[in-house]
Amino acid sequence: MIAIGCDHGGYELKEAIKKYLDENNIEYKDFGSYSSESVDYPKVAFEVATEVSLTHFEKGILCCGTGVGVSIAANKVPGIRAALVSDKFTAKATREHNDSNILCLGGRVIGEELAFMIVDIWLNTEFIGKHHTRRLEQIKDYEAY
Ligand code: RB5
Repeated sequence: MIAIGCDHGGYELKEAIKKYLDENNIEYKDFGSYSSESVDYPKVAFEVATEVSLTHFEKGILCCGTGVGVSIAANKVPGIRAALVSDKFTAKATREHNDSNILCLGGRVIGEELAFMIVDIWLNTEFIGKHHTRRLEQIKDYEAY
């Protein structure tokens, strides 16, 4: 189950992604926002990130204008590895190498079709472990410090 959220800058892209997830029978919960009215992105980013961090949701998708604001906020939540992605290579690599658990997208940066490809790759690529596990452990240790 995917937790999904956005601010006004990412609202249209979030709605398009929800349609894409529906068409592909992928379950999600929408944490808002629910219109293109101006809202502050940290609130929804913290909410989605906390849900993922508590393992209530397997992964999260956050959209804002650039994807940067939600990624900065989400990465403040312990256990979150939020990746801002705007290309297919990074979508694959950040799952394989970083085991990213939140995908951040910029609604004012990428088009819907590219976003769907990125979502598809990101959801269907597994973490490859090996030496990458050691690096994630280093981040986890720093977080606990
Ligand atoms: C909102 O105007 C915009 O700043 C926000 O969506 C996001 O791009 C922030 O990083």
